[in-house]
Amino acid sequence: MAQPVKPHPLFARFYATLAGPALEKAGIAEHRRRLLAGLTGEVIEIGAGNGLNFPHYPPEVTRVVAVEPEPNLRALARDEAHRAPVPVEVEAARAERLPFPDASFDAAVVCLALCSIADPGTALAELHRVLRPDGRLRFFEHIQAGSPAVRRVQRVLDATVWPRLMGGCHTGRDTRSAIIAAGFTLTAVDRFDFPRTRIPMPAAAHILGTAVRPGPKGTR
Ligand SMILES: C[S@@+](CC[C@H](N)C(=O)[O-])C[C@H]1O[C@@H](n2cnc3c(N)ncnc32)[C@H](O)[C@@H]1O
Repeated sequence: MAQPVKPHPLFARFYATLAGPALEKAGIAEHRRRLLAGLTGEVIEIGAGNGLNFPHYPPEVTRVVAVEPEPNLRALARDEAHRAPVPVEVEAARAERLPFPDASFDAAVVCLALCSIADPGTALAELHRVLRPDGRLRFFEHIQAGSPAVRRVQRVLDATVWPRLMGGCHTGRDTRSAIIAAGFTLTAVDRFDFPRTRIPMPAAAHILGTAVRPGPKGTR
């Protein structure tokens, strides 16, 4: 059974006041818009943080259920939900155990969260369960670097200070493989560095894309 998430008040404050705004300044809004463009119907977003995706949901989305277990970030997300252009409900739950029936959402969104979720494989299995057949999973995540030298740095950071300082985040997870292992079919993946810097950064390699929960006929 999934353990309850401990509150991370320092990380919550750091993310809401420093990291989130720094990512916005670096141009993340463009990627958030790409992540959500074209979505319709009822959407679940896991690890919604303080709700930085909410302003970017397109009007064709009729309902967003945003799951956030950290209480300080969840309170900020609820404030943000009031300003969102579409109806957003913010729920306290862990991604590894979603309190929703099978096949209850048209689409799922995960953004910079599979790096922090304690058991990303179980979280992806839960998203697969709550998505309707042919439902889309949209993802934007930082991942394992392409360069072996940076991967070594990621391994050292992930085994030492990074998760402790960054609310459980891991720099170098193989999220693409985890999505496929959970039963999704990848239909589009854009791999790029964000932010683009001259010095290699441990959490710069990202993927943004779409995967599908195959329908009964294996449709895509
Ligand atoms: C780096 S923040 C990203 C927040 C937001 N998705 C964004 O794009 O700004 C990672 C988020 O994952 C959440 N998280 C950590 N463990 C989780 C779990 N087991 N289930 C759901 N969310 C979790 C954290 O509380 C945090 O809000």
